[in-house]
Amino acid sequence: MCGIVGAVGHKQCSLVLLDALKRLEYRGYDSSGISTINKGAIALKRAVGKIVNLDAALTESPLEGDIGIGHTRWATHGGVSEANAHPHVASNRVSIVHNGIIENHREIQQRLESAGHHFSSDTDSEVLAHLFVEAFDSGMEPAIATQQVLAEIEGAYAFALMAIDYPEMLIVARNASPLALGIGDHACYIGSDAIALSHLTRKVVYLEDHDYALVRADGVSVYQADGALVDRKAMIVAASPGLVDKGGYRHYMEKEIHEQPDAIGHSLAAMTDENGHLTAQMPDDALRAIDGVVMLAAGTSHYATQVARYWVESLARVPVACELASEYHYRQPATKPFNTAIAISQSGESLDTLMAMRYAAKCGMNTIGLVNVPNSSIAREADTVLPTRAGPEIGVASTKAFTAQLTVLLCFAVALARAKGHIDNSQASSIHAKIQALPGLVGKALGLFDVIRPVAHQLSSVRSALYLGRGALYPLALEGALKLKELSYIHAEGFASGEMKHGPIALIEDDMPVVALLTADHLMGKASNNLREASARGAKIILISDAKVAKEVDYATSVIAVPTIDPLLAPILLAVPVQILAYLTAVEKGTDVDQPRNLAKSVTVE
Ligand code: AGP
Repeated sequence: MCGIVGAVGHKQCSLVLLDALKRLEYRGYDSSGISTINKGAIALKRAVGKIVNLDAALTESPLEGDIGIGHTRWATHGGVSEANAHPHVASNRVSIVHNGIIENHREIQQRLESAGHHFSSDTDSEVLAHLFVEAFDSGMEPAIATQQVLAEIEGAYAFALMAIDYPEMLIVARNASPLALGIGDHACYIGSDAIALSHLTRKVVYLEDHDYALVRADGVSVYQADGALVDRKAMIVAASPGLVDKGGYRHYMEKEIHEQPDAIGHSLAAMTDENGHLTAQMPDDALRAIDGVVMLAAGTSHYATQVARYWVESLARVPVACELASEYHYRQPATKPFNTAIAISQSGESLDTLMAMRYAAKCGMNTIGLVNVPNSSIAREADTVLPTRAGPEIGVASTKAFTAQLTVLLCFAVALARAKGHIDNSQASSIHAKIQALPGLVGKALGLFDVIRPVAHQLSSVRSALYLGRGALYPLALEGALKLKELSYIHAEGFASGEMKHGPIALIEDDMPVVALLTADHLMGKASNNLREASARGAKIILISDAKVAKEVDYATSVIAVPTIDPLLAPILLAVPVQILAYLTAVEKGTDVDQPRNLAKSVTVE
């Protein structure tokens, strides 16, 4: 997703803006740019590709000025080109950076062009710059001009603008796309998230939807949609000094795979009350009032919900609907008997998931935000927050956040089942003890890199692969296929093992790789039969299971065995070799592991 940054009152601000953009690289992008105001004129530098290209352009001819804005673009409207890179400048008077989509940009552009405005890009965002020129030309002051512009545009936006008519301020606004205002001692800053600003200030004001603000060196004036000044309280956000550090690993993803014992341990701690019992961050009577849970998410987080459904329904006997957030609220779903919605999101900013949660709230459901970023939009709007404590996840492919989500969801299922009386304290404690043992088992599974490397080498040359799992391992098969696709660009599909005979088995041909997820549960025999059917037709079975199961399997060409694990927790532990396999395959293929092509870490458009 696009990243926006800005500074006012900071000497030679282009350098600090470049550094802030580097902190947003993890979001994924394809071009970048910075503009400043210097001696009454707008100066602009933009570059296609990685930020090193912008850095080189700035080194060649630095931008002067103490006020500026910067942007990393993830293309939505208009191809990847310097002309489409932000900032966009209108009439040499206004410069703007924008994250989101202006849905009605075409009719606005037509109106402005007929009034004599000339556009220089194919983007939707450029209309914002021209709308402000039009408002300033009509004599409007910044706050009124902003209110008028916001009244005309439709869609999601977080933008920062500067104008030579008002060189002492940045004008910012947000709707559905996140925006943080950083309050420094002698300067103020803006960023798509606090991560971009954490080296400059930890005092942050978060705008709410439809807020806009005038940001000056000595402070901010925040307005709500009706034009009234509003006091949005500043908060002190946690420092994340290790953020831009790979900790000696080759990639953020490799580091984050290795951080999973801590991510799981810290997330478990956050779900344990002062008496050492598992908690769901709400009183038992609130848990007992839950009649049905809709789980809203996208991508890897959606697959976490599909695993959780097995736990919540089998332990707590509460019906669960796992909904793709991008589909849910557009189909006017029947909501009964679901009275609780859990939005699961690593970033807490996926607009699909935020909009789906808002729909659920509008339907009267209690909303729970299960997020990895404490002050994210979903966290701030949900009735209750279930925190994962995985720490900042920079690699675009989610790893430690996924196993942290599963840990929190399993704790939630246990707390719900106990509150509902379906399991007693000793059963809850027994599962709790198994979860407590997980960090150690995950630590052992991290020793599988050398076992998996030759398998990844072979996998890196195939055109297509299947992932099969049954029961709660079926969603992990879907996640494994996504990991391989998004990291190595190899086509992969996940199926429920039992579904193969209903069609997909026609795909099997000699030497086709089938990654098989297996655990010693009640479905192991059936799942093994499904795998033998594939093997009998030439498939190469890459078995991922625990050591006990691996001993009983005679049809695998490769075996990746984790320590023996209770089948209830297998989806969490087996996720580790699934991630390592995808990571090492991508390394073999030489793809951009931390920022795979076309992908963004936080998708803040619908
Ligand atoms: C995961 O590897 C992907 N990068 C992607 O599917 C991601 O899980 C999805 O975009 C949801 O993101 P969120 O958890 O931040 O909402």
